[in-house]
Amino acid sequence: MVRANVNSPFRKAPATHAAHAGSKRPSAARLRLTVLTAAAMAAVALSATTPSHAGEVEVLHWWTSGGEARAAQALRDMITAQGDTWKDYAVAGGGGDNALTALKTRVVSGQPPTAAQIKGPQIQEWGAEGVLANIDAIATDGNWNAVLPPAIASIMKYQGHYVAAPINVHRVNWLWVNPAMLAQAGATVPTTMASFFEAADKLKAAGMLPLAHGGDPMQDATLFESVALGVGGVDFYRKAFIELDAATLSGPTMVAVFDAMQRIKGYIDKGSPGRDWNLGTVMVMNGKAAMQFMGDWAKGEFTAAGKVAGTDYLCVPAPGTAGAFTYNIDSLAMFTQSSPQARSSQAHLATAVMSPEFQTVFNLNKGSIPARIDVPLDRFDACAQQSSADLRAASSAQTLIPSFSHKMAMSPAVEGGIVDVVSRFMHSSLSPKAAAAQLAAAVKAS
Ligand code: BGC
Repeated sequence: MVRANVNSPFRKAPATHAAHAGSKRPSAARLRLTVLTAAAMAAVALSATTPSHAGEVEVLHWWTSGGEARAAQALRDMITAQGDTWKDYAVAGGGGDNALTALKTRVVSGQPPTAAQIKGPQIQEWGAEGVLANIDAIATDGNWNAVLPPAIASIMKYQGHYVAAPINVHRVNWLWVNPAMLAQAGATVPTTMASFFEAADKLKAAGMLPLAHGGDPMQDATLFESVALGVGGVDFYRKAFIELDAATLSGPTMVAVFDAMQRIKGYIDKGSPGRDWNLGTVMVMNGKAAMQFMGDWAKGEFTAAGKVAGTDYLCVPAPGTAGAFTYNIDSLAMFTQSSPQARSSQAHLATAVMSPEFQTVFNLNKGSIPARIDVPLDRFDACAQQSSADLRAASSAQTLIPSFSHKMAMSPAVEGGIVDVVSRFMHSSLSPKAAAAQLAAAVKAS
């Protein structure tokens, strides 16, 4: 039996979340205003309509691609097997921006779901709205403090109380590779940015599309994040995206990052704008594109299609980032429920999410690894084993960093400002220098 992530990989994680969550929060203030304005409405509405009525579990999420849907089905199966009714509240859109907009509307109208996929610093923001439920009793029963790495546990707590249940750890700095295409082009699997460009040039010269990319803000930001780490390294990433240091955001290394992004534009096809991330993964699978920068939810797509890691496709750290690990943790935040029955169904949900069985089945389908440290990984594939080992190594080396493009590092307002600039750069002729200057300006303004 392999107990691959037993050594508490997050134990030495930098204390960036707590420090950062409250530092720049204009969007929280905006959100608070809207929610508070609706508070009176909510009280009335709650007595009239309860979307999560007796025995019903309603979960807002954005797991709608093939692999994601299979993972979500595992949750649904567990809930219905326990005797509760599952009410699916899926809002499509990679990265979850659409889902979070829908969630705000629901909460403002006084009809929160039982739980919603809310991550990282955003849990603090929703906690500050006073709409999240204290689930300490469930966490105590389940011994959560003992089975979760402290850094993950602290993300799940608001003012010291559990308000969310963690599901997994996704790694974002991956490159997904079609090895047959690389072989055909005489290219080797890239490990550095320089060898990435070499491989991409060979693929292009051989008439193949080097990169599967969908031009939407989430994918632009995911690509940018890995390229920034590959070009600038961990200290640069921290200074830019954790400390939000203005000189770093606008400085020469950031210009070099945008230079690299400029070059990468030449490896992307004209059909890219608006293409969903999972269709990009299918392109790699079907030999239509050789590589994709994407978090390991992409592996869920390969798995759903019956593809085997190491044979049909390769998962390798994004070029130049092998020693680092950008993490993204999915979690379900629990909303305050008015009826005892709804609260009891919510307790079933939170308990199920933290069960070793669920953390195994969900993550086998999702591409991630369990959040619990005591779940054996022997049923997981080579990519998951590598993710777990790399997580541990990065934790010891202090190179474990939160993914900003997946809402783990900064407030939504700051993240939105950065992603806007990156996307604008990808879809216009903005120069690398101007983009770096705009990045610093956007962070200052948010
Ligand atoms: C979420 C994943 C999801 C991915 C694509 C990420 O931000 O954490 O659960 O699969 O977006 O939608």
